[in-house]
Amino acid sequence: MMLSKKLGSAINKQINAELWSAYLYLSMSAYFESINFGGFANWMKAQAQEEVDHAMKFYNHIIERRGRVVLTAIAAIPTSWKSPLHAFEEAFKHEQKVTAMIENIAAIAAADKDYAATSMLQWFHDEQVEEELQTDTIVQKLKMIEKSTGGLFMLDRELGKRKKE
Ligand code: FEO
Repeated sequence: MMLSKKLGSAINKQINAELWSAYLYLSMSAYFESINFGGFANWMKAQAQEEVDHAMKFYNHIIERRGRVVLTAIAAIPTSWKSPLHAFEEAFKHEQKVTAMIENIAAIAAADKDYAATSMLQWFHDEQVEEELQTDTIVQKLKMIEKSTGGLFMLDRELGKRKKE
């Protein structure tokens, strides 16, 4: 079964959104490097790489279904934030937006009775639960230690341990 035009177009848009996410998190990584938080920067760099993997999962799905991938311009991303907390709050808000986009694609796939796309999207539903939890957990920790330099350095060290999966 071919992808419907509507579903193909929604997945193409999602490839762009995932690459935009990669660009956003890499920009956040560069911001953290600039304020000497190498651990936060490491976490964001790993996150950016995961976003490229997400884009590729959507890309491959279109190709496997004999659809047409159309890559479009990536919109500009912010380049600085007020604080580590501000950056992670923005990351969390962004993930909530991505979750809503994926739910929207799933609704189109359901209306199309496209079970192959539905199955592919299941992985993303699970992934979004994890991504929202991870970013919100860091937001909550940053809120707790907001004005403690020692706390910030400890969290920086913890996030420095993340490796790309
Ligand atoms: Fe690809 Fe962070 O969602």
